[in-house]
Amino acid sequence: MTSPTKRSILFPLVALLLIGGGCAKTPTTAVRDASAPVPAPPKETGNVVEHSLVAKKTTVELKPGLSTEAWAYNETVPGPEIRATLGDRVKITFKNELDEPSTIHWHGIRVPAAMDGVPMVSQEPVPPGGTFTYEFLPPDAGTYFYHSHVRVDEQVDRGLYGAFVVEPSEKATMRDGVFALDDWLLDAKGARLPTTASEPELAIDNVLDVVSEAATASRGHAGHMMADGSMMMGGMGSGGMMNHMIPAEINGRFGNVVTVNGRANGFVAPIVLARGERFLARFLNASNAMTHELKSSDGRAFAVVAVDGIALSAPYVTDRLILPPAKRFDVVLEATNGKDWALAGGTGKRAIRIPIKIEGETETVAMPSSGVAPAMPDLRAAKPDATFQVETDSMMNATSWVVNGRPYDMEGENPVLATFARGTWVKMRFENASPMAHTMHVHGHFMRVITRNGQRVDANTSEDTVVMRPMETMDVVMLADNPGDWVMHCHNLDHEEHGLMANFKVE
Ligand code: C2O
Ligand code: CU
Repeated sequence: MTSPTKRSILFPLVALLLIGGGCAKTPTTAVRDASAPVPAPPKETGNVVEHSLVAKKTTVELKPGLSTEAWAYNETVPGPEIRATLGDRVKITFKNELDEPSTIHWHGIRVPAAMDGVPMVSQEPVPPGGTFTYEFLPPDAGTYFYHSHVRVDEQVDRGLYGAFVVEPSEKATMRDGVFALDDWLLDAKGARLPTTASEPELAIDNVLDVVSEAATASRGHAGHMMADGSMMMGGMGSGGMMNHMIPAEINGRFGNVVTVNGRANGFVAPIVLARGERFLARFLNASNAMTHELKSSDGRAFAVVAVDGIALSAPYVTDRLILPPAKRFDVVLEATNGKDWALAGGTGKRAIRIPIKIEGETETVAMPSSGVAPAMPDLRAAKPDATFQVETDSMMNATSWVVNGRPYDMEGENPVLATFARGTWVKMRFENASPMAHTMHVHGHFMRVITRNGQRVDANTSEDTVVMRPMETMDVVMLADNPGDWVMHCHNLDHEEHGLMANFKVE
């Protein structure tokens, strides 16, 4: 074995930039192709990963002297990390010890519809004292998460979420870890404050762009990516003013304590790396509404290798990560020199810092291999198969969000807004007729953004959650290959719970 040389450390970042330059090709199949390659299901390993998750009230300590009543899986926030290898079956017994119904949703994992955990759509809500067994074979390796899908603005807010990692079949050459960011709205004693006491959001909490464009590797440095956002939301522009006329429950709950893996700023456990080591950091944003920003404290670059669990065909290199709600980013950190550094972001009460400490020395391992994005037909010129228009019910006195004119009824029947033929690539148009950004999430499928306001987007990744900017029209393509009844909704949990959800069907 050779010791790491300077070259072996520097090469990958250069290589990534080069790969990136030539990789923004768009497939040219101009017709809908029902025989388009459906990702093959993984080969079963025969292993069954079993967990039992009990939802109940508990007290968690966010830092010394600050404890709060949480609703948690197995009394920890985040809940236990679930790890499986691609090809393993997963069997989770859920027991609900809350005073109200609940379910678990496996965010981003393309599970069968009956296992998806959406009350009234996939299953009956699990009553207090009840149990439900979720069983499925995760079809894609990557970073996912699980969370309650009932009254999410309270249940997830209070802590009912956890990380779910599907490891690839080939043994990883680098260590990895999950970093779940969250924010809490608490009084000085740690009591949860109502959403109406929400702190005003900052520009970055609401816009948060970046995601699809960031995946275009030719734009190597992410620094410019807030440009559009700052233009729209900076100062008292079109967005900033409007937002404050929308009540907090509708606008989103922005907290005053930020945590990583349940620990508040100043008490976040450091990542300990050996000099020369590469480490796969899996970031997940479990916040209700807040977008988090993390920057290298010393400006050093890192490579983003996967978004929403799915490996990028061309990773990109940046020194800044912007994490909208519900999204996951897998990042390779490199201890290229012997110096400690940190990933840090936010200001004031929202500041957060993940320290990185160097101890000892090791060999530098190869970068993980990149994914191959499935070929997809070019539907930019096609007319959309479905249009979802998002706005508030009233500009002057908003009480809910509406999709195609209708707020979602959490307890009742809802119309199916679109039915897609199984196995087809469909084009969905999202029209944001509101002055706020929305993080649109589809269940059971991945999407790829193809245009924003008619402008071509060369994203090279598939995402389960995409940010739609204020007043933007966004076209996405999706392979409708997972049969059943599904929902799509905004992952700002306060938007979701106040109507911004719709049903669709694949048959
Ligand atoms: Cu992570 Cu329907 O949600
Ligand atoms: Cu929204």
